[in-house]
This record gives sequence, structure tokens and C-alpha cells, in this order.
Amino acid sequence: MDVAVIGGTGVLGGLVARTLLEGGDQVRLVSRSAPAAGSAAAALVAAGAGHHVADLRSGDGLAAALGGADAVVDAVNDPRGAKQVMVEGGGRLLAAEAAAGVGHHVAVSIVGIEQVPLAYYTAKLAQERVVTDGPVPWSLLRATQFHQLLDQAFAAAARLRLLPGGAAQVQPIDPAIVAARLADAVHAGPCGRLPQLGGPRVQTLGELAREWRAARGRRLPVVPLPWPPRLGRALRGGSLTAPDAAVEGPAFAQWLAQPPADVAESVLR
Ligand SMILES: NC(=O)c1ccc[n+]([C@@H]2O[C@H](COP(=O)([O-])OP(=O)(O)OC[C@H]3O[C@@H](n4cnc5c(N)ncnc54)[C@H](OP(=O)(O)O)[C@@H]3O)[C@@H](O)[C@H]2O)c1
Repeated sequence: MDVAVIGGTGVLGGLVARTLLEGGDQVRLVSRSAPAAGSAAAALVAAGAGHHVADLRSGDGLAAALGGADAVVDAVNDPRGAKQVMVEGGGRLLAAEAAAGVGHHVAVSIVGIEQVPLAYYTAKLAQERVVTDGPVPWSLLRATQFHQLLDQAFAAAARLRLLPGGAAQVQPIDPAIVAARLADAVHAGPCGRLPQLGGPRVQTLGELAREWRAARGRRLPVVPLPWPPRLGRALRGGSLTAPDAAVEGPAFAQWLAQPPADVAESVLR
């Protein structure tokens, strides 16, 4: 199949593109910037993926990026511009897909977003509605937080000499597992809502922070975050988790101990 991966230079999009390429599909990455030299996305291009520049905020470049594609995987992310890029831009993307005759739109969202009062999650819910009410047959997968997200959040906090902890419940997952499920969805064709995916263990943020600290050899205090009351209740109550959807795979500490996957080696062999 010929698949356009929007946000194909990002964490999830890159893994979806790699999985599809390894399976013999034709893949084009779509993003605002060309892959940086030495990046995982550059390795994907070296392995045969195409790259198109397009911007969901304006719609520029979308028609050229989508021509001839059988399916689109939308792995775009912009937490600061979520409404403009993921909701309004999602609408622009679907209109461009319909005009290009794309037969399947594969979307990814997040477990529990209707229960957690955060602006980003409100935008993700609106993005889901744009897909489910949209003009292109669709599949939609909800997943829990990625290991990379926690790794990046702890690394950013460590620069402030502390780590966020407390009793918020999280069930982080290896995004490679999410990517594999999305690639399967591409091949299965439009399925509507797919069974959601969660990481192998539900843990508190404090527990995950201590695991990160041990793995990275850092001596930093773990400090409970002062969430606003409604948000704190939702997070402590496990709204972002889905224990029934737990998959096998590396838990956070195991994932931290793994060397990063060598994209060039796995795709170029
Ligand atoms: N991270 C998590 O824990 C998690 C968990 C569950 C679901 N998800 C969902 O998974 C998806 C991907 O997340 P991610 O963390 O993998 O994202 P990411 O690594 O931040 O990658 C974002 C991608 O979007 C592209 N992009 C951003 N703005 C764009 C625009 N205006 N037009 C075109 N491309 C644009 C970026 O490239 P350029 O900047 O070059 O354009 C990049 O390729 C999101 O829908 C997210 O909600 C994430």
C-alpha cells in the first residue's frame, strides 16, 4: 500500500513509518520540516521513504503530499497549537484526503481524555469528533502515555533540580507497540474505534520518577505535583489508565534500560 504518515518525523509517526516500510509498504513522511541530518526520519528516507513538506495549520502542501496515497496515518502533535493544528488542521487534512481519494484515515488518541480537564485533552476529543464525523472512512486507536513522554518530562524537570512525583496514576507504553497496532490497522482497512491500548503496568508518577532517577543515576528530590483539585482527583483516580487494555512489552524501567532502536540498522538491512 501507499501510505502517507502525517507527523512522520515525530516519535510515533517515525515508528509507524518504519513498521510499514519493513512490511514492504510505500511510505511518505509529511511534516513542516525536512528530516534533520542524522535523525531517525533521515534514516527512513535513506531506506526509501519519501518526504513531503506540508503544514496542517495552513493546509499548504497537503494536496501534493497526499496524491496517490491509499491511506493516511495522522501522527501529528502540537500541544501548544492543538486546536489550530490538530482540530482545525485535522479538518483541513480530511478535506484534502477526500479530494485526493484517500480511502482510509487512521487516527490516534489518548485513553480517558473525556475524564481529565486539560486543554490538550479537550482538543484531542474535538480532533476525534473531526475524524468520526469526517468525510473519509476511519480507524481510531486510543493509547496511554508513551515512555518517551515521561522520559522527556523527567529530563526537563531534572534541569530544575527536581522530579515530579505524587499519586497520579499512569500506565506508560512503548510507542513501538502503538505503532505496530496502527500499521495493522492500515492493512485491515477502516474499522472505526479499535480496542484501546495500555502499557503493561499502572504505576504512580512518584514510582516512575524514582525509576527514572535510578536509571539515569541522578540524585534529585521527587516532589508531588500540586494539581488543581479536579485534575488531581482524576489523575489519582486512574482516569488516564486502562488496566483491562494492558499489553505485554517493556514497562518503563525496562524500556529505560534498553538501548534506543537503531532505525538505520532495522530498515536498511
Ligand atoms: N506522546 C504520548 O505520550 C502520546 C500518547 C498517546 C497518544 N499520543 C498521540 O500520538 C500522536 C503523535 O504524538 P508524538 O508524541 O509521537 O508527536 P511528536 O513526536 O511531537 O511529533 C509530532 C509530529 O507532528 C509534526 N507537526 C507538528 N506540527 C505540524 C503541522 N502544523 N503540520 C504538519 N506537521 C506537523 C512534527 O513535525 P514538524 O514539527 O517538522 O512539522 C512531527 O513530525 C499525537 O496525536 C498524540 O496525541 C501521544
